[in-house]
Amino acid sequence: MNRPRLPRATDLAHAWVRERLRSGPGSGLAVVDATAGNGHDTLFLARLVDPEGRVFAYDVQAEAIETTRRRLEAAGLLERVRLRLASHEELGENGPVDVVMFNLGYFPGGDKKLITQVGSTLRALQAAVDGLNPGGLVTVVCYPAHPGGREEADAVLGWTRQLDPRRFRAMRCETLLVQGEPAPFLVGIERWGA
Ligand SMILES: C[S@@+](CC[C@H](N)C(=O)[O-])C[C@H]1O[C@@H](n2cnc3c(N)ncnc32)[C@H](O)[C@@H]1O
Repeated sequence: MNRPRLPRATDLAHAWVRERLRSGPGSGLAVVDATAGNGHDTLFLARLVDPEGRVFAYDVQAEAIETTRRRLEAAGLLERVRLRLASHEELGENGPVDVVMFNLGYFPGGDKKLITQVGSTLRALQAAVDGLNPGGLVTVVCYPAHPGGREEADAVLGWTRQLDPRRFRAMRCETLLVQGEPAPFLVGIERWGA
């Protein structure tokens, strides 16, 4: 029997996105996985949108895009997804979107030195909120434990705090006690104003 456990930051991101899309605009959704990696989040999004929905998935590593492609193909959902071997800074090219998911850090199973970078992460976050439909949600899982991760996590928090509270609401969810601290944490940003 599986023991109950508290959700991880990635589980919470999925729960928030699932809830948002369930109560949200319905079919015709446009959603983005800004960091495809092994494709778990892309597959999660592809399962949530209707056949008319669109998923855009970005990664700068060809291996990540190929792994994601294979995962989607195995699930029979490849045609719902546009895979982009490009930086997430370009995600604004897809027009208005309802959800953007960021899972920062390195490609699990790949080169741990190839991490997301503060400058491009903040430019991509800005593009994400600029293109967010009212009621839309951006999730960001930050990993302060790996080299460079703390700086990036702090930059994400600083950037989030300067958003206009008349248009956006944001929250941070963090595990307080875990082996191998500092634990990953989740930032959620919703657009609620016009
Ligand atoms: C923690 S992994 C993502 C895990 C993934 N969401 C999953 O479900 O398996 C972070 C990914 O971000 C990618 N990445 C790094 N810089 C990027 C950038 N500028 N644009 C898009 N992806 C980037 C890395 O190559 C890596 O695969």
